[in-house]
Amino acid sequence: MAGRKLQAPRGTFDVLPDEGRRRYELLRSAEEILGRAGYGYVSTPDFEDTELFARGVGEATDIVKKEMFTFEDAGGRSMSLRPEGTAGVCRAYVEHGMHKLPQPVKLWYWGSFFRYEAPQAGRYRQFTQLGAEALGSDDPSLDAELILILHELLEGAGVKGLRLKLSSLGDPDTRRGYADDLRAHLRAHEAELSDDVRARLDQNPLRAFDSDHPGTRAALEDAPRLIDRLRPEDAEHLAEVRALLDDAGLAYELDPTLVRGLDYYTRTVFEFESDELGAQRGVGGGGRYDGLVEELGGPPTPGVGWAAGIERILLASQREAPAPGASVFVALDEGASSLDAFRLVRALRQQGVAAQMEQAGRSLKGQLKHADRLEASRVAILGADGLAIRDMQSGEQRDVADVAEAVRLLVEELR
Ligand code: HAM
Repeated sequence: MAGRKLQAPRGTFDVLPDEGRRRYELLRSAEEILGRAGYGYVSTPDFEDTELFARGVGEATDIVKKEMFTFEDAGGRSMSLRPEGTAGVCRAYVEHGMHKLPQPVKLWYWGSFFRYEAPQAGRYRQFTQLGAEALGSDDPSLDAELILILHELLEGAGVKGLRLKLSSLGDPDTRRGYADDLRAHLRAHEAELSDDVRARLDQNPLRAFDSDHPGTRAALEDAPRLIDRLRPEDAEHLAEVRALLDDAGLAYELDPTLVRGLDYYTRTVFEFESDELGAQRGVGGGGRYDGLVEELGGPPTPGVGWAAGIERILLASQREAPAPGASVFVALDEGASSLDAFRLVRALRQQGVAAQMEQAGRSLKGQLKHADRLEASRVAILGADGLAIRDMQSGEQRDVADVAEAVRLLVEELR
């Protein structure tokens, strides 16, 4: 009896080859652009101790409170699929003593991340992030460099309608003082607020800035702004980041309402949005996290970085990746030796020529049609007692002596 058809879990998706090529292209360009700026590729586990995210991302964040895939392993330890990459990278930095290396240590990564969110276009329960982190220096040129690299990557990927938002969250003390004042301001407008914002007033009043609720937005209009209260050194840091972006000619909007959904940020925060996307406009974002490494048991170490959602980048860009195709298709006529065909494709591939052979038992006519579909420029037709090469553009066909001669000619013409 045939089995019941199964589907990928809700909020997940399969990547098929057309999409796969676009992803691979993105990975290749990330390697090139980040490598040029001294970032080295790293990979950390897909699951970690739950405590890493509770401490790193923040107990009070939506991500940790509601969105983690948490499970107990057979040894009774609480593990979570990683919802983001910065905490894991900082854990690895501490675990491998990278603070002893010349600073800053520049790292990048690519991989799967997991958040139990309501699925919609651009929002999944398993998604792919490309991320970069620079640890061990608070130099504003790192903030600017990372923002410019992300911009280059997004532009290069063909993301349309890009906008950059920038702000500073200052230091934790300033933020705490500010949260108290903002809470008091919102309490004075409590009746106008959404239930959600009211419920979170105690824990995290800054999240009110993420709300679309009209009453909440009205209440925020004359709210105090964190950016007006930065310590002089934090204001200076922001000014230096801005000067570098201005010098590079990258436009941005200074947005004092930019709050990010993770607790570790200090100073610079930023986000790239694309007009091509609907509700899930954020293609990539990040910021500085000067206290995170210490929070995870390392020495005081500043850090800055970003992550971009690969699925959102691909949704916001219409770019096609070139089809793989084949330069040569080896067709088998009646009585031909499939061993010769196999040897021929092997020899061609070894010499750098893309080659495929008939592997589905089609008629010769069917094989030529298939070669056309693959956009092969030559077809080698093997018969019972001979071998011919057909030029698919001109339709011209010539006989060749043997497999070795065919390889020599094809490599000469096609490589
Ligand atoms: P994030 O803003 O939470 O930051 O995520 C970064 C990007 O991941 C988003 O801009 C979005 O493109 C993508 N993304 C997030 N959630 C989903 C989802 N459910 N489905 C599809 N795409 C999604 C971070 O994760 C920080 N670790 C960034 C960072 C690195 N900050 C400093 N260093």
